[in-house]
Amino acid sequence: MKQTTRFGLKYTFADKELKQSRESSGPARAVEETAVKAQQAASDPGFSAEIQESLQQVLGELDNLIGLAKVKELAREIRAFVEICRRRERFQLKNESLVLHMIFKGNPGTGKTTVARILGKMLAELKVLPKGHLVEVERADLVGEYIGHTAQKCREQLKKAMGGILFIDEAYSLARGGAKDFGKEAIDTLVKAMEDHKNEIILILAGYEGEMEKFLRTNPGLRSRFPIHLHFPDYSCDELIEIAQLMVRERQYRLSVGAAEYLRHYLQQQLDASRPNFSNARLVRNLIERAIRRQALRLVDRRIYTRDDLIMLLREDFIQPEEEEAIIHIWQTE
Ligand SMILES: Nc1ncnc2c1ncn2[C@@H]1O[C@H](COP(=O)(O)OP(=O)(O)OP(=O)(O)O)[C@@H](O)[C@H]1O
Ligand SMILES: [Mg+2]
Repeated sequence: MKQTTRFGLKYTFADKELKQSRESSGPARAVEETAVKAQQAASDPGFSAEIQESLQQVLGELDNLIGLAKVKELAREIRAFVEICRRRERFQLKNESLVLHMIFKGNPGTGKTTVARILGKMLAELKVLPKGHLVEVERADLVGEYIGHTAQKCREQLKKAMGGILFIDEAYSLARGGAKDFGKEAIDTLVKAMEDHKNEIILILAGYEGEMEKFLRTNPGLRSRFPIHLHFPDYSCDELIEIAQLMVRERQYRLSVGAAEYLRHYLQQQLDASRPNFSNARLVRNLIERAIRRQALRLVDRRIYTRDDLIMLLREDFIQPEEEEAIIHIWQTE
């Protein structure tokens, strides 16, 4: 048989393997095979066109994000798995239940909340979750100050998140106070809810990598309840610039050449200083939002302006206040 494409070749190997397995499973298998073929002809097991379209839209949102290859791969995996489960159901085949509680490890501004929100929407489209909304909480929303308070707070948050995702930021802070702290009670309540409502709620614990690892080590029972661990790496300077370009495009602005150069220089400086609180894409967003406000101030009193003026963000819109002071200072002393 002649094969011209790589994918064609792949299918040929897969077909051959399938054929060999069928042959080795004897006559009972052949009867089952005939029944399967009859059903196959009668059914089209995919999602409806409408669902496919909104699913495509959500996946597009994810694909638009810069980098994050592992996250995109996971989303494709989940989508394929759910689709295959649905097809298997039609043939009365057993399905593993889908446990999707997750741990997100990464520094601030690496996209954890954004990704959780998109995954929620995707899981709602796939009908894995009834609603798919995101409820983001932290220690203070879950841990109370007196007996009974913690259970009540947890219940409230769980109720809000039911049908969607409960996203717990800086999850390790639940274990902060040691054995006597109410944080332990919060963890126990959440774990129980994960089991009791496993088809209605997904828990995502998020936080810095090192702290999360320590937290999981001190709570050995927890790790196995969260089968998906995703690492969100810090962005490189090139990725941060790509993110900046994406953010301005989405807002219908553009960076002038000077602005892009300045931004690259500024971000590289920040990266080289390797500040412990470097906030990745959030820093980029803040810089852009500030530049947009400064552009507005630059233009607001002008009587004549063009469409381009309204779109373009210039270098001067990005200059940081401390640098401005430095420039004025140099100018005064020269
Ligand atoms: N890969 C990416 N591509 C485009 N935009 C991104 C990307 N990652 C993050 N952003 C944007 O950066 C901002 C911060 O992201 P987000 O809030 O998801 O980070 P986070 O990891 O949850 O931060 P924190 O730990 O501080 O809560 C958001 O506006 C988000 O849209
Ligand atoms: Mg966040």
